[in-house]
Amino acid sequence: MKYFEGCTALITGASSGLGAEFARQLAPYARGLILVARRNERLEELASELRGIHPGLTVRTYCADLAREDLRTQLVAWLQKEDIAVDFLINNAGIGDHGKFQDGDWNRVRAMLDVNIAALTHLTHLLVPGLLRGGRAAILNVSSVAGFFPLPHMAVYSATKAYVTSFSEALALELRPRGITVTALCPGPVPTEFFDIATREGERDAVAHFKTFPAMVVTPQEAVAAGLRAVAARRARVVPGPLLAAAVGVALVIPFFVLRRILAWKADSI
Ligand SMILES: NC(=O)c1ccc[n+]([C@@H]2O[C@H](COP(=O)([O-])OP(=O)(O)OC[C@H]3O[C@@H](n4cnc5c(N)ncnc54)[C@H](OP(=O)(O)O)[C@@H]3O)[C@@H](O)[C@H]2O)c1
Repeated sequence: MKYFEGCTALITGASSGLGAEFARQLAPYARGLILVARRNERLEELASELRGIHPGLTVRTYCADLAREDLRTQLVAWLQKEDIAVDFLINNAGIGDHGKFQDGDWNRVRAMLDVNIAALTHLTHLLVPGLLRGGRAAILNVSSVAGFFPLPHMAVYSATKAYVTSFSEALALELRPRGITVTALCPGPVPTEFFDIATREGERDAVAHFKTFPAMVVTPQEAVAAGLRAVAARRARVVPGPLLAAAVGVALVIPFFVLRRILAWKADSI
């Protein structure tokens, strides 16, 4: 964790789950944290918790709906006005959806595209010039194992995460020679509010089918620690949890026509 000493990290989606955990794990080492999400009271609660434990740490909160392009631009203008030089961007905010594509709510679909893809790409685009000016810097994009597989009943979500992983890998190659590490954190199921939000009204718990594989579940603490270790080691991608990492490794060498049959069987069983 010495790698993060003195860093100034901007964490999106810091009001709960993995985002709040990133803030807690970075707090002992960072110089500054900027916590971004829509639920301001949650951000303020976390900020005062962290300020109480780490008096030398500067914690700022910024309330914004990152689905909106104008608010993303305003966030970066505010950073400039406040003279805050971010050297660690954690694109963590994201939402999911579980159920048949044709029965889904368009607003949810659009929000996934806007938050999981557009916000992550736009914030990266806005902040990379500053990261390049500052010398050593890092970007951590929270993707998902869902990004490795075209998952039925999570078709849009898994496609957005395929984008995040692919974008991160390509950007890692572009920016590594310039001193910026880019890492995609690809967790499997993690107990946060994510699945409550991804579960459609009147549908069964979206996480139910993962409960058959409890060994694949990692805690938010483990997922975040794996992500931070990967950044410090300048790795482009990490799947937290040894069992899940091994399972993904095996699945990725299965011929796609076989994988398609497995996914079709899985879809029928949901
Ligand atoms: N939990 C899992 O099993 C799992 C697995 C793989 C990947 N992931 C990924 O991990 C990341 C974090 O998810 P989590 O598990 O920590 O879920 P979570 O507890 O639901 O947290 C999601 C965060 O995203 C923020 N967010 C959502 N929409 C936003 C918007 N329009 N503007 C600003 N912030 C927004 C939420 O804040 P507000 O609601 O306050 O805005 C919240 O802080 C996501 O990218 C998710 O796809 C999660």
